Amino acid sequence: MIRIALLGAGLIGREHAELIQTHPGAELAAICDPSPEGKALAERLSVPHFSAYVEALEKTRPDGAIIALPNRLHEAAALACIDRGIASLVEKPVADTVAAGARIAEASEDRGVPVLVGHHRRHSPDIRAAKKSIAAGELGGLVAVNGMTLFDKPEPYFQAEWRRQPGGGPLLINLIHDIDALRHLVGEIESVRAFTSSAVRGFAVEDTASIAIRFRNGVLGSFVISDAAVSPWAWEYCSGQALYHPSQPGPCLFIAGRKAALSVSDMYLWRHAEQDHHWQHPLLREHRPGDGSRTYVNQLDHFLAVIRREAAPLISARDGLATLAATLAVEMAAREDRTVTLDEMLATAGQRAVA
Ligand SMILES: NC(=O)c1ccc[n+]([C@@H]2O[C@H](COP(=O)([O-])OP(=O)(O)OC[C@H]3O[C@@H](n4cnc5c(N)ncnc54)[C@H](O)[C@@H]3O)[C@@H](O)[C@H]2O)c1
Repeated sequence: MIRIALLGAGLIGREHAELIQTHPGAELAAICDPSPEGKALAERLSVPHFSAYVEALEKTRPDGAIIALPNRLHEAAALACIDRGIASLVEKPVADTVAAGARIAEASEDRGVPVLVGHHRRHSPDIRAAKKSIAAGELGGLVAVNGMTLFDKPEPYFQAEWRRQPGGGPLLINLIHDIDALRHLVGEIESVRAFTSSAVRGFAVEDTASIAIRFRNGVLGSFVISDAAVSPWAWEYCSGQALYHPSQPGPCLFIAGRKAALSVSDMYLWRHAEQDHHWQHPLLREHRPGDGSRTYVNQLDHFLAVIRREAAPLISARDGLATLAATLAVEMAAREDRTVTLDEMLATAGQRAVA
């Protein structure tokens, strides 16, 4: 049994606790969360409880740790794990600033202690199937990509003041997942431009954004996101894999290449029927379904392999850092009304905080 310490037992931490408890190859070594709810969860699950994570790591010596703490605490907790040779799964974003993320990446690489970042979509059956199809060359060379995350968050969600302030909106809470999936499927981002609007809710933070993306391999992309629009076009609904949303199968991401196009999450591949294709001839539609597995279970399975040093993290701290930097680039591009490159963001490490 792989023994895992859970640092932070809030919204997502409780999900991790449940996943570990029901996994045949893992058990909870400790729950560290000073809140009464954290203590109560540890008691209910009969797991040692701690209020300070260093004490939890020292006393229980776990094989791995899941860091589901507020973003600003990710760096110190990840470094504490790396110092002790403990592999960690750090929830997304890898850290609250590019500089903090870079320090985690450097420490992980220098010490050879793996850090897996919790961008769970990479473990999702639809994203896996899309990655496989692209890697197999089914789409040919990629040309363009277009995606959407359009949903309607309820009013009580905004009672927390930080959700109404810059950093607490859909760019840094939600788009970061889309950016990570795009980087994973299409390639590294070179630069972005973006418009944001807060016209629907009138908060200081954006409620809607449109983004233009140039990838390093020459692919061009566009993406729209809003937390104030009613639609099923978001991975959370389309994939049927999210923790807190109903399954409403459909497409939310469209990837087009020289040979074929693929829609995700409904996983339809569109291609010409004949070799000497003509744009006025009908296209064939074929299904490329996922394997029916569950995203968060897959993520935990992968983390266990990382802990056993049988697999390198599918998304390392360095990779998570680029996802964070690209997401912050979108925010900066909109605010300063200009093109922002990933290189620029990585060079200005530490200037931008994430809520
Ligand atoms: N991958 C996903 O699907 C997903 C979903 C939600 C949140 N997240 C990420 O997970 C992290 C946590 O988010 P959340 O929504 O669960 O937040 P939350 O506020 O619900 O939970 C954070 C928990 O950390 C505890 N905590 C605070 N300081 C602590 C300390 N010093 N030591 C131990 N525990 C401490 C708090 O008491 C709280 O219970 C964030 O980084 C967030 O971005 C990821």
